[in-house]
Amino acid sequence: MYQENSINLLNLVLSLSDALDLASPNLAQHQMRTAFIAWAIAKESNIPNSDLEELFIAALFHDVGALSPEEKLNIHQFESINPDPHCISGEAFLKKISLFQQASQLVRFHHTSWEYWDQPISDPVVFGSQVIHLADVVERAITRSKYILHQEKEIIEYIDSLGTQFCPEVVGAFRSVAEREDFWLDLTSPRLYSILLHQGPGKRVEINLSGLLSISELFKVLIDFRSRFTATHTTGVATSASNIACKFGLTDTEIELMEIAGNFHDLGKLVIPNSILEKPGRLSPEEFALMKQHTYFTYSILSTIGGIQNIAEWAAFHHERLDGSGYPFHLDASRLTIGSRIMAVADIMTALAEDRPYRKGLENKEILKILDGLVAKNHLDGSIVEVLRKNFDEIVSVTKEKQAVALNIFQDEFSEEQAAIRTA
Ligand SMILES: [Fe+2]
Ligand SMILES: [Fe+2]
Ligand SMILES: [Fe+2]
Repeated sequence: MYQENSINLLNLVLSLSDALDLASPNLAQHQMRTAFIAWAIAKESNIPNSDLEELFIAALFHDVGALSPEEKLNIHQFESINPDPHCISGEAFLKKISLFQQASQLVRFHHTSWEYWDQPISDPVVFGSQVIHLADVVERAITRSKYILHQEKEIIEYIDSLGTQFCPEVVGAFRSVAEREDFWLDLTSPRLYSILLHQGPGKRVEINLSGLLSISELFKVLIDFRSRFTATHTTGVATSASNIACKFGLTDTEIELMEIAGNFHDLGKLVIPNSILEKPGRLSPEEFALMKQHTYFTYSILSTIGGIQNIAEWAAFHHERLDGSGYPFHLDASRLTIGSRIMAVADIMTALAEDRPYRKGLENKEILKILDGLVAKNHLDGSIVEVLRKNFDEIVSVTKEKQAVALNIFQDEFSEEQAAIRTA
Protein backbone atom coordinates (compact mmCIF):
# COMPACT_ATOMS: atom_id res chain seq x y z
CA MET A 1 0.00 0.00 0.00
CA TYR A 2 2.89 2.38 0.76
CA GLN A 3 5.50 3.16 -1.88
CA GLU A 4 9.08 2.93 -0.60
CA ASN A 5 9.91 6.37 0.57
CA SER A 6 12.92 8.53 0.47
CA ILE A 7 12.39 12.04 1.66
CA ASN A 8 14.35 14.98 0.37
CA LEU A 9 16.07 16.57 3.36
CA LEU A 10 16.12 20.10 1.95
CA ASN A 11 12.42 19.96 1.22
CA LEU A 12 11.72 18.60 4.67
CA VAL A 13 13.74 21.20 6.58
CA LEU A 14 12.33 24.05 4.50
CA SER A 15 8.73 22.96 5.11
CA LEU A 16 9.22 22.42 8.82
CA SER A 17 11.14 25.67 9.25
CA ASP A 18 8.28 27.44 7.49
CA ALA A 19 5.83 25.73 9.86
CA LEU A 20 7.68 27.13 12.87
CA ASP A 21 7.39 30.65 11.45
CA LEU A 22 3.65 30.49 10.83
CA ALA A 23 3.11 31.54 14.44
CA SER A 24 2.70 35.19 13.53
CA PRO A 25 2.57 37.31 10.35
CA ASN A 26 5.46 39.32 11.83
CA LEU A 27 7.59 36.20 11.82
CA ALA A 28 6.59 34.85 8.42
CA GLN A 29 9.65 33.27 6.79
CA HIS A 30 11.97 34.69 9.49
CA GLN A 31 14.10 31.55 9.71
CA MET A 32 14.02 30.97 5.95
CA ARG A 33 15.18 34.52 5.26
CA THR A 34 17.85 34.22 7.95
CA ALA A 35 19.02 31.01 6.26
CA PHE A 36 19.13 32.76 2.89
CA ILE A 37 21.29 35.60 4.28
CA ALA A 38 23.54 33.12 6.11
CA TRP A 39 23.90 31.03 2.96
CA ALA A 40 24.87 34.08 0.89
CA ILE A 41 27.49 35.18 3.44
CA ALA A 42 28.88 31.65 3.72
CA LYS A 43 29.18 31.29 -0.07
CA GLU A 44 30.98 34.63 -0.22
CA SER A 45 33.40 33.32 2.43
CA ASN A 46 34.17 30.16 0.41
CA ILE A 47 33.68 27.68 3.22
CA PRO A 48 33.57 23.91 2.47
CA ASN A 49 30.24 22.61 1.16
CA SER A 50 29.60 20.31 4.10
CA ASP A 51 29.96 23.24 6.55
CA LEU A 52 27.68 25.30 4.35
CA GLU A 53 24.96 22.66 4.48
CA GLU A 54 25.15 22.43 8.28
CA LEU A 55 25.06 26.21 8.56
CA PHE A 56 22.00 26.36 6.34
CA ILE A 57 20.08 23.78 8.41
CA ALA A 58 21.08 25.51 11.65
CA ALA A 59 19.84 28.85 10.31
CA LEU A 60 16.53 27.30 9.22
CA PHE A 61 15.98 26.02 12.76
CA HIS A 62 17.85 28.65 14.75
CA ASP A 63 14.82 29.70 16.84
CA VAL A 64 13.46 26.17 17.31
CA GLY A 65 14.00 26.54 21.07
CA ALA A 66 11.33 29.27 21.35
CA LEU A 67 8.15 27.35 21.99
CA SER A 68 5.02 29.51 21.95
CA PRO A 69 4.14 32.22 19.42
CA GLU A 70 4.41 34.61 22.38
CA GLU A 71 7.99 33.53 23.09
CA LYS A 72 8.91 33.74 19.42
CA LEU A 73 7.70 37.34 19.28
CA ASN A 74 9.54 38.17 22.51
CA ILE A 75 12.92 37.08 21.24
CA HIS A 76 12.30 39.16 18.16
CA GLN A 77 12.48 42.35 20.14
CA PHE A 78 15.91 43.87 20.17
CA GLU A 79 16.23 45.02 23.74
CA SER A 80 16.17 43.63 27.27
CA ILE A 81 15.24 40.09 26.37
CA ASN A 82 17.43 37.27 27.61
CA PRO A 83 18.02 35.10 24.55
CA ASP A 84 19.77 32.26 26.44
CA PRO A 85 16.76 29.98 27.14
CA HIS A 86 15.83 29.55 23.48
CA CYS A 87 19.48 28.97 22.48
CA ILE A 88 19.93 26.32 25.18
CA SER A 89 16.64 24.56 24.39
CA GLY A 90 17.29 24.80 20.67
CA GLU A 91 20.62 23.05 21.08
CA ALA A 92 19.07 20.37 23.31
CA PHE A 93 16.25 19.71 20.80
CA LEU A 94 18.50 19.43 17.75
CA LYS A 95 21.20 17.40 19.50
CA LYS A 96 18.75 14.53 19.91
CA ILE A 97 18.62 14.09 16.13
CA SER A 98 21.75 12.61 14.60
CA LEU A 99 21.21 14.54 11.36
CA PHE A 100 21.28 17.84 13.27
CA GLN A 101 24.18 17.22 15.71
CA GLN A 102 26.52 19.73 14.16
CA ALA A 103 23.79 22.29 13.53
CA SER A 104 22.85 22.18 17.23
CA GLN A 105 26.19 23.80 18.16
CA LEU A 106 25.59 26.76 15.88
CA VAL A 107 22.10 27.25 17.30
CA ARG A 108 23.52 27.26 20.84
CA PHE A 109 25.71 30.28 20.09
CA HIS A 110 23.63 32.21 17.57
CA HIS A 111 23.22 35.16 19.97
CA THR A 112 26.84 35.17 21.17
CA SER A 113 28.73 38.39 20.43
CA TRP A 114 32.08 38.24 18.68
CA GLU A 115 33.82 39.82 21.70
CA TYR A 116 32.93 36.79 23.87
CA TRP A 117 34.72 34.29 21.63
CA ASP A 118 38.27 33.22 22.42
CA GLN A 119 38.54 30.90 19.43
CA PRO A 120 39.39 32.22 15.94
CA ILE A 121 36.80 32.70 13.19
CA SER A 122 38.35 29.75 11.30
CA ASP A 123 36.63 27.44 13.83
CA PRO A 124 33.45 26.25 12.03
CA VAL A 125 31.27 26.67 15.15
CA VAL A 126 32.47 30.24 15.68
CA PHE A 127 32.06 31.10 12.01
CA GLY A 128 28.66 29.42 11.65
CA SER A 129 27.15 30.93 14.77
CA GLN A 130 28.55 34.39 13.94
CA VAL A 131 27.03 34.19 10.46
CA ILE A 132 23.62 33.18 11.83
CA HIS A 133 23.87 35.90 14.49
CA LEU A 134 24.47 38.56 11.84
CA ALA A 135 21.87 37.11 9.45
CA ASP A 136 19.26 37.05 12.23
CA VAL A 137 19.90 40.70 13.12
CA VAL A 138 19.73 41.74 9.45
CA GLU A 139 16.45 39.89 8.98
CA ARG A 140 14.90 41.47 12.05
CA ALA A 141 16.02 44.92 10.93
CA ILE A 142 13.87 44.70 7.78
CA THR A 143 10.67 46.72 7.89
CA ARG A 144 8.20 44.39 6.25
CA SER A 145 5.85 47.11 5.05
CA LYS A 146 8.59 48.98 3.17
CA TYR A 147 10.18 48.15 -0.23
CA ILE A 148 13.56 46.55 0.42
CA LEU A 149 15.67 48.74 -1.86
CA HIS A 150 14.35 51.78 0.00
CA GLN A 151 15.85 50.51 3.25
CA GLU A 152 18.96 48.42 2.47
CA LYS A 153 21.37 51.30 3.13
CA GLU A 154 19.92 51.89 6.58
CA ILE A 155 20.23 48.19 7.36
CA ILE A 156 23.89 48.11 6.33
CA GLU A 157 24.56 51.25 8.41
CA TYR A 158 22.77 49.66 11.34
CA ILE A 159 24.98 46.55 11.14
CA ASP A 160 28.08 48.78 10.99
CA SER A 161 26.88 50.64 14.08
CA LEU A 162 26.84 47.43 16.15
CA GLY A 163 30.65 47.42 16.29
CA THR A 164 32.21 44.48 18.14
CA GLN A 165 29.08 42.33 18.09
CA PHE A 166 30.18 40.63 14.85
CA CYS A 167 33.51 39.42 13.51
CA PRO A 168 34.85 42.00 10.99
CA GLU A 169 35.40 39.29 8.35
CA VAL A 170 31.77 38.18 8.55
CA VAL A 171 30.61 41.80 8.29
CA GLY A 172 32.93 42.21 5.29
CA ALA A 173 31.37 39.20 3.52
CA PHE A 174 27.90 40.54 4.29
CA ARG A 175 28.82 43.98 2.91
CA SER A 176 29.90 42.48 -0.39
CA VAL A 177 26.73 40.42 -0.92
CA ALA A 178 24.67 43.41 0.24
CA GLU A 179 25.99 45.48 -2.68
CA ARG A 180 23.90 43.46 -5.10
CA GLU A 181 20.23 44.31 -5.53
CA ASP A 182 19.37 40.70 -6.46
CA PHE A 183 20.44 39.60 -2.96
CA TRP A 184 17.85 41.90 -1.37
CA LEU A 185 15.18 41.11 -3.96
CA ASP A 186 15.57 37.34 -3.55
CA LEU A 187 15.60 37.76 0.22
CA THR A 188 12.21 39.48 0.28
CA SER A 189 10.69 37.64 -2.66
CA PRO A 190 7.46 35.73 -1.97
CA ARG A 191 9.12 33.01 -4.06
CA LEU A 192 12.01 32.58 -1.63
CA TYR A 193 10.84 29.09 -0.70
CA SER A 194 11.15 27.79 -4.22
CA ILE A 195 14.43 29.65 -4.79
CA LEU A 196 15.93 27.83 -1.80
CA LEU A 197 14.32 24.53 -2.73
CA HIS A 198 15.86 24.56 -6.20
CA GLN A 199 19.16 26.29 -5.50
CA GLY A 200 19.76 25.81 -1.78
CA PRO A 201 22.63 23.69 -0.42
CA GLY A 202 22.24 19.95 0.09
CA LYS A 203 19.41 19.52 -2.35
CA ARG A 204 20.28 15.93 -3.21
CA VAL A 205 20.35 14.56 0.33
CA GLU A 206 17.63 11.97 0.98
CA ILE A 207 16.59 10.61 4.38
CA ASN A 208 14.80 7.39 5.31
CA LEU A 209 11.86 6.62 7.58
CA SER A 210 13.90 6.30 10.75
CA GLY A 211 15.38 9.76 10.11
CA LEU A 212 11.87 11.09 9.66
CA LEU A 213 10.72 9.36 12.85
CA SER A 214 13.40 11.11 14.90
CA ILE A 215 12.51 14.49 13.40
CA SER A 216 8.83 13.83 14.14
CA GLU A 217 9.80 13.12 17.78
CA LEU A 218 11.29 16.62 17.94
CA PHE A 219 8.12 18.17 16.54
CA LYS A 220 6.05 16.19 19.03
CA VAL A 221 7.89 18.04 21.79
CA LEU A 222 7.55 21.43 20.07
CA ILE A 223 3.81 20.91 19.64
CA ASP A 224 3.04 19.51 23.09
CA PHE A 225 5.34 21.22 25.53
CA ARG A 226 3.87 24.66 25.01
CA SER A 227 1.18 24.00 27.57
CA ARG A 228 0.64 21.59 30.46
CA PHE A 229 -2.80 20.79 29.09
CA THR A 230 -1.37 19.41 25.88
CA ALA A 231 1.96 18.17 27.30
CA THR A 232 1.22 14.50 26.62
CA HIS A 233 -1.45 14.71 23.92
CA THR A 234 0.70 13.91 20.88
CA THR A 235 2.48 11.12 22.73
CA GLY A 236 -0.95 9.67 23.56
CA VAL A 237 -2.25 9.91 20.01
CA ALA A 238 0.91 8.53 18.37
CA THR A 239 1.09 5.62 20.83
CA SER A 240 -2.57 4.68 20.71
CA ALA A 241 -2.79 5.11 16.91
CA SER A 242 0.23 2.87 16.25
CA ASN A 243 -1.06 0.28 18.73
CA ILE A 244 -4.53 0.25 17.19
CA ALA A 245 -2.86 -0.08 13.77
CA CYS A 246 -0.91 -3.08 15.05
CA LYS A 247 -4.02 -4.80 16.45
CA PHE A 248 -5.86 -3.98 13.24
CA GLY A 249 -3.24 -5.97 11.32
CA LEU A 250 -1.37 -3.25 9.44
CA THR A 251 2.22 -3.98 8.36
CA ASP A 252 5.29 -2.99 10.39
CA THR A 253 6.07 -0.16 7.98
CA GLU A 254 2.51 1.11 8.20
CA ILE A 255 2.68 1.00 11.99
CA GLU A 256 5.85 3.10 11.90
CA LEU A 257 4.20 5.51 9.46
CA MET A 258 1.25 5.73 11.82
CA GLU A 259 3.52 6.69 14.69
CA ILE A 260 5.17 9.40 12.57
CA ALA A 261 1.75 10.65 11.45
CA GLY A 262 0.63 10.66 15.10
CA ASN A 263 3.65 12.75 16.08
CA PHE A 264 2.79 15.25 13.36
CA HIS A 265 -1.02 15.21 13.61
CA ASP A 266 -1.33 18.54 15.45
CA LEU A 267 1.64 20.16 13.67
CA GLY A 268 -0.62 23.02 12.59
CA LYS A 269 -1.22 23.89 16.26
CA LEU A 270 2.11 25.71 16.11
CA VAL A 271 0.02 28.47 14.55
CA ILE A 272 -2.46 28.67 17.43
CA PRO A 273 -1.64 31.10 20.28
CA ASN A 274 -1.33 29.72 23.81
CA SER A 275 -4.19 31.97 24.92
CA ILE A 276 -6.55 29.73 22.90
CA LEU A 277 -4.82 26.43 23.71
CA GLU A 278 -5.04 27.17 27.42
CA LYS A 279 -8.41 28.89 27.57
CA PRO A 280 -10.12 27.85 30.81
CA GLY A 281 -13.48 27.15 29.17
CA ARG A 282 -14.99 26.09 25.90
CA LEU A 283 -13.93 28.01 22.82
CA SER A 284 -16.19 30.71 21.40
CA PRO A 285 -17.30 30.24 17.77
CA GLU A 286 -14.64 32.77 16.69
CA GLU A 287 -11.92 30.93 18.61
CA PHE A 288 -13.07 27.59 17.26
CA ALA A 289 -12.85 29.02 13.74
CA LEU A 290 -9.20 29.87 14.46
CA MET A 291 -8.61 26.40 15.83
CA LYS A 292 -9.94 24.86 12.61
CA GLN A 293 -6.81 26.00 10.78
CA HIS A 294 -4.61 23.54 12.62
CA THR A 295 -5.32 20.45 10.52
CA TYR A 296 -5.31 22.57 7.37
CA PHE A 297 -1.72 23.56 8.16
CA THR A 298 -0.77 20.04 9.21
CA TYR A 299 -1.80 18.94 5.73
CA SER A 300 -0.31 21.79 3.78
CA ILE A 301 3.08 21.52 5.54
CA LEU A 302 3.38 17.75 5.33
CA SER A 303 2.12 17.43 1.78
CA THR A 304 4.61 20.08 0.61
CA ILE A 305 7.48 17.86 1.77
CA GLY A 306 6.62 15.32 -0.91
CA GLY A 307 7.05 11.53 -0.76
CA ILE A 308 4.98 11.18 2.41
CA GLN A 309 1.43 11.67 1.17
CA ASN A 310 0.12 8.83 3.39
CA ILE A 311 1.59 10.44 6.48
CA ALA A 312 0.14 13.82 5.46
CA GLU A 313 -3.36 12.34 5.09
CA TRP A 314 -3.29 10.12 8.16
CA ALA A 315 -2.01 13.04 10.24
CA ALA A 316 -4.22 15.81 8.91
CA PHE A 317 -7.62 14.15 8.49
CA HIS A 318 -8.21 13.40 12.18
CA HIS A 319 -11.07 15.90 12.46
CA GLU A 320 -12.80 14.61 9.31
CA ARG A 321 -15.87 12.41 9.88
CA LEU A 322 -17.22 9.47 7.84
CA ASP A 323 -20.49 11.31 7.12
CA GLY A 324 -18.57 14.35 5.81
CA SER A 325 -19.42 16.54 8.80
CA GLY A 326 -15.82 17.06 9.95
CA TYR A 327 -13.40 19.89 9.19
CA PRO A 328 -11.69 21.51 7.32
CA PHE A 329 -11.79 19.32 4.17
CA HIS A 330 -15.27 17.80 4.64
CA LEU A 331 -14.07 14.44 3.34
CA ASP A 332 -16.41 11.48 3.72
CA ALA A 333 -16.07 7.68 3.92
CA SER A 334 -15.15 7.44 0.25
CA ARG A 335 -11.99 9.49 0.85
CA LEU A 336 -10.98 8.49 4.37
CA THR A 337 -8.50 5.60 4.39
CA ILE A 338 -8.00 3.22 7.28
CA GLY A 339 -5.00 5.23 8.54
CA SER A 340 -7.01 8.47 8.77
CA ARG A 341 -9.87 6.61 10.47
CA ILE A 342 -7.54 5.11 13.06
CA MET A 343 -6.04 8.55 13.77
CA ALA A 344 -9.52 10.05 14.33
CA VAL A 345 -10.34 7.36 16.91
CA ALA A 346 -6.92 7.69 18.60
CA ASP A 347 -7.25 11.48 18.78
CA ILE A 348 -10.70 11.40 20.37
CA MET A 349 -9.90 8.64 22.84
CA THR A 350 -6.71 10.42 23.94
CA ALA A 351 -8.43 13.80 24.24
CA LEU A 352 -11.29 12.37 26.32
CA ALA A 353 -8.85 10.76 28.76
CA GLU A 354 -6.94 14.03 29.28
CA ASP A 355 -7.61 16.79 31.77
CA ARG A 356 -8.71 20.00 30.09
CA PRO A 357 -8.71 23.49 31.59
CA TYR A 358 -12.50 23.12 32.00
CA ARG A 359 -12.92 19.41 32.90
CA LYS A 360 -11.18 16.32 34.29
CA GLY A 361 -10.21 13.37 32.08
CA LEU A 362 -12.97 10.77 31.61
CA GLU A 363 -13.03 7.16 32.85
CA ASN A 364 -12.50 4.27 30.41
CA LYS A 365 -16.15 3.27 30.42
CA GLU A 366 -17.33 6.76 29.57
CA ILE A 367 -14.76 7.02 26.78
CA LEU A 368 -16.03 3.83 25.10
CA LYS A 369 -19.61 5.03 25.47
CA ILE A 370 -18.82 8.28 23.70
CA LEU A 371 -16.91 6.45 20.93
CA ASP A 372 -19.92 4.13 20.43
CA GLY A 373 -22.16 7.17 20.13
CA LEU A 374 -19.89 8.58 17.43
CA VAL A 375 -19.96 5.27 15.53
CA ALA A 376 -23.76 5.33 15.70
CA LYS A 377 -23.74 8.84 14.19
CA ASN A 378 -21.44 7.60 11.37
CA HIS A 379 -18.62 9.84 12.53
CA LEU A 380 -16.14 7.09 13.40
CA ASP A 381 -15.41 3.65 11.91
CA GLY A 382 -17.12 0.93 14.02
CA SER A 383 -14.61 -1.77 13.05
CA ILE A 384 -11.76 0.29 14.53
CA VAL A 385 -13.67 1.04 17.73
CA GLU A 386 -14.36 -2.72 17.99
CA VAL A 387 -10.64 -3.56 17.73
CA LEU A 388 -9.96 -0.86 20.31
CA ARG A 389 -12.63 -2.24 22.66
CA LYS A 390 -11.13 -5.77 22.46
CA ASN A 391 -7.68 -4.46 23.36
CA PHE A 392 -8.73 -1.44 25.38
CA ASP A 393 -6.92 -2.15 28.66
CA GLU A 394 -3.67 -3.06 26.93
CA ILE A 395 -3.70 -0.04 24.61
CA VAL A 396 -4.65 2.35 27.41
CA SER A 397 -1.92 1.04 29.68
CA VAL A 398 0.85 1.26 27.03
CA THR A 399 -0.36 4.75 26.13
CA LYS A 400 -0.48 5.93 29.77
CA GLU A 401 3.04 4.60 30.35
CA LYS A 402 4.44 6.62 27.45
CA GLN A 403 2.46 9.67 28.52
CA ALA A 404 3.87 9.41 32.06
CA VAL A 405 7.41 9.51 30.65
CA ALA A 406 6.53 12.57 28.53
CA LEU A 407 4.94 14.29 31.54
CA ASN A 408 8.09 13.78 33.62
CA ILE A 409 10.26 15.37 30.95
CA PHE A 410 7.78 18.23 30.67
CA GLN A 411 7.71 18.85 34.43
CA ASP A 412 11.50 18.70 34.74
CA GLU A 413 12.30 20.94 31.81
CA PHE A 414 9.22 22.83 30.66
CA SER A 415 7.16 23.52 33.78
CA GLU A 416 5.34 26.80 34.38
CA GLU A 417 8.36 28.27 36.19
CA GLN A 418 10.45 27.44 33.15
CA ALA A 419 7.86 29.06 30.88
CA ALA A 420 7.89 32.18 33.08
CA ILE A 421 11.66 32.47 32.67
CA ARG A 422 11.30 31.98 28.91
CA THR A 423 8.76 34.74 28.36
CA ALA A 424 10.06 37.17 31.01
FE1 LIG B 1 17.27 33.58 18.25
FE1 LIG C 1 15.77 34.58 14.97
FE1 LIG D 1 -6.32 18.10 16.25
